[in-house]
Amino acid sequence: FFSPYIYIYVQNHTISRLCGRQVISAVNGSLPGPTLHVREGDTLVVHVFNKLPYDLSIHWHGVFQLLSGWADGPEFATQCAIRPGNSYTYRFNLTGQEGTLWWHAHVSWLRATVHGALIIRPKRGRSYPFPKPYREVPILLGEWWNANVVDVENEGLTSGAAPNNSNAYTINGQPGDLYPCSSNKTYKLIVKQGKTYLLRIINAALNNQLFFKIANHNMKVVAVDAAYTNPYITDVVVVAPGQTTDVLLTANQAPASYYMAANPYVSVAGVPFDNTTTTGIIVYEGAKPSTPKMPILQAFNDTPTAHKFFTNLTGLVTGPFWVPPPRQVDEHMFITIGLGLIACGKTGNNATCGGPNGQRFGASMNNASFQLPTKMSMLEAFFNNVKGIYTTDFPNQPPLIFDYTNPNNSFNPSIIMTTKSTKVKKLKYNATVEIVMQNTALIGVENHPIHLHGFNFHVLAQGFGNYNPTIDKNKFNLFNPQERNTIAVPVGGWAVVRFRANNPGVWLMHCHLDVHLPWGLATAFVVENGRTPSTKLPPPPQDLPKC
Ligand code: C2O
Repeated sequence: FFSPYIYIYVQNHTISRLCGRQVISAVNGSLPGPTLHVREGDTLVVHVFNKLPYDLSIHWHGVFQLLSGWADGPEFATQCAIRPGNSYTYRFNLTGQEGTLWWHAHVSWLRATVHGALIIRPKRGRSYPFPKPYREVPILLGEWWNANVVDVENEGLTSGAAPNNSNAYTINGQPGDLYPCSSNKTYKLIVKQGKTYLLRIINAALNNQLFFKIANHNMKVVAVDAAYTNPYITDVVVVAPGQTTDVLLTANQAPASYYMAANPYVSVAGVPFDNTTTTGIIVYEGAKPSTPKMPILQAFNDTPTAHKFFTNLTGLVTGPFWVPPPRQVDEHMFITIGLGLIACGKTGNNATCGGPNGQRFGASMNNASFQLPTKMSMLEAFFNNVKGIYTTDFPNQPPLIFDYTNPNNSFNPSIIMTTKSTKVKKLKYNATVEIVMQNTALIGVENHPIHLHGFNFHVLAQGFGNYNPTIDKNKFNLFNPQERNTIAVPVGGWAVVRFRANNPGVWLMHCHLDVHLPWGLATAFVVENGRTPSTKLPPPPQDLPKC
């Protein structure tokens, strides 16, 4: 195997955006951080040096981490944080997946600025299952705060209310010329007429799903979350935080300038959000300077367009790494995704009462509000058999039965008060799991991007309203379902996914809207070792950070 060795220095750094200067945490001095290029089958070795005044860990979002769970990265899940002044070496193999993934900090809100693309190309001598593009271009969509993001998060957590919205969206770190003081902070892509470009679109925004369009051009989707799809032609791409979408763009229009634009998809009514648009400019070589053409933007609440995009994608069964979805299911789980309330003062934490009804916001899966341990990572507890770090009683079903999508359930304290715990679901090695994710209408219903660490799942079906097992089973696509690591569970609806737990370790599953993670919209799978040595988690690396 070829082993790219990479050094990452994470440091505070002052940059100017939106008419001001701001100190941000950045990798090797750049926003976004460096793009890492590997080939399928490579071993990647990344030395991370934490020169921040904060704790840090880095997650390799979407990487299978087969037998390398110690390198997955989430703080208190697979490691303790890298303390200021310390370092840790992440070492893992990239086998069995190709396409666009990314890496990001997995501590507080640092990922707002500590992130970058991870591009896995085919091995030498192998090619893409689509015509070779002329050039490949990472497009990282992000969010910008005129503030220190760690402070923004902490203010939210201490007040118990929702934290401040961002001040701008960004394309490759640039807000674009529709924002004040930003005409020289606009991403530009020069294209040659007639050539085809592979855009590797990543939604690295913290809290917003985004529509992405290019004036006068269609895009052909060929992969999502580093899994090939059947080609799908569309004029709009929808990406939830955590998701990636690879599209082919052919420069087949008159030589001129065209905007690419991203604006939020906000599925919940009545909450304040940043309804602005980030732009980049595609300029045809040799075109006369002109005002770029603007695409027609989707309305922020255009759920039909989002749903059409998300449900029309299918997996490429002839792709090099296609695995069919499990037919037999060992563990049937029904998980409710809820935003709720937590009483103040009783639950520890520094929570006060800035939320509705003098309570604070909390979020839950099956009514359990997940709290990471603080003394030791869950993976160390698993490996060393330490009791008391987590409990294995995460239920396969929610404790309460009601109409999940009925807004009248809102503010009914007997339904929405959740308690904090560290409940995980234990799985036998190689068990097959089906999860029905049901989005509830407890406090305003919205679309939640649920991300599973360590695995891709197949998305069998999605819909609105309450999941109905007798009817909705017939909608399962068991032939060519899309594979993903992050599923945007439809607003007031449901999604059904399946995966095979063929990787021992501790794997978080959580909402990738960062505001919901500290509120507890998470759980974890603890996958036991198999019987043979090649199915057991090896011991941790020597330099694994200790708490
Ligand atoms: Cu991309 Cu647990 O995160």
